[in-house]
Amino acid sequence: MSKNADDLAALIRVRAGDAPVQMGLILGSGLGHLAGAVDGIAIPYSDLPGFPHAGVSGHNPHLVIGDLEGVRVAVFGGRAHYYESGNPAAMRLPLEVLRALGAKTLIATNAAGSLRPDIQPGDLMLLSDHINFSGLNPLIGEKTDARFVPMKDAHDPDLRAALKAAAATQGVPLPEGVYAWYSGPSFETPAEIRAIKILGGDAVGMSTVPEVILARFLGLKVTAISTITNMAAGLSDENISHEHTKAMAPVGAAKLELTLRALLRSMT
Ligand code: HPA
Repeated sequence: MSKNADDLAALIRVRAGDAPVQMGLILGSGLGHLAGAVDGIAIPYSDLPGFPHAGVSGHNPHLVIGDLEGVRVAVFGGRAHYYESGNPAAMRLPLEVLRALGAKTLIATNAAGSLRPDIQPGDLMLLSDHINFSGLNPLIGEKTDARFVPMKDAHDPDLRAALKAAAATQGVPLPEGVYAWYSGPSFETPAEIRAIKILGGDAVGMSTVPEVILARFLGLKVTAISTITNMAAGLSDENISHEHTKAMAPVGAAKLELTLRALLRSMT
């Protein structure tokens, strides 16, 4: 772990207290509401040297640390996407800090387009696995042998089972599927979506995969949930846009919040 992560964790503890963080949450586009529900303190990324700018509209670049349903959480209100800087490792420092704060588990969330007719806008999808359709990797340049991260069961089976059980207690359908990472920032073409379908993708989005790779590298248990904001390109008549993503994300966000709260309660 870089010295910087330990320094930042120390700085954060001065403001947020010493109790170890149990769970990290990364909030995707339009999903920021949950950060406001945490009983704790919000630290702007700009107060944390080395944290990414995370300047995409619909994100709130604060790290919120505190209590949610009796569990000490660290909520990343904004994530850095590869397409903002060209750096696939832009979330490495925040995740190193998460680990330095004591977390063993990370759940990422995102907005995504669906390729499956049975998973519609407003629905959630739990990631059972992913396809790195971008070919980029946040560990390129890492010098240690730790870079050879096994990715079988990268989306932790126990964590997925716990999320499914939590969703069921809330009556929230949580189908599992494979998420394909497309670099963005342009959306996919219909031909790319057909290709992703053939390759086995169920949903497509511009984030999360680098964070899952980094989390596994750092030894964190991880998985992710997509809130489906649209059918992927060519699969419906609707126009795909970031405005539409931001408008639709809150529909799934309510179900996401119920699910995550139930999961946290089950941990206490
Ligand atoms: N493609 C990529 N990213 C997305 C989409 C999509 O259709 N919807 C929301 N984020």
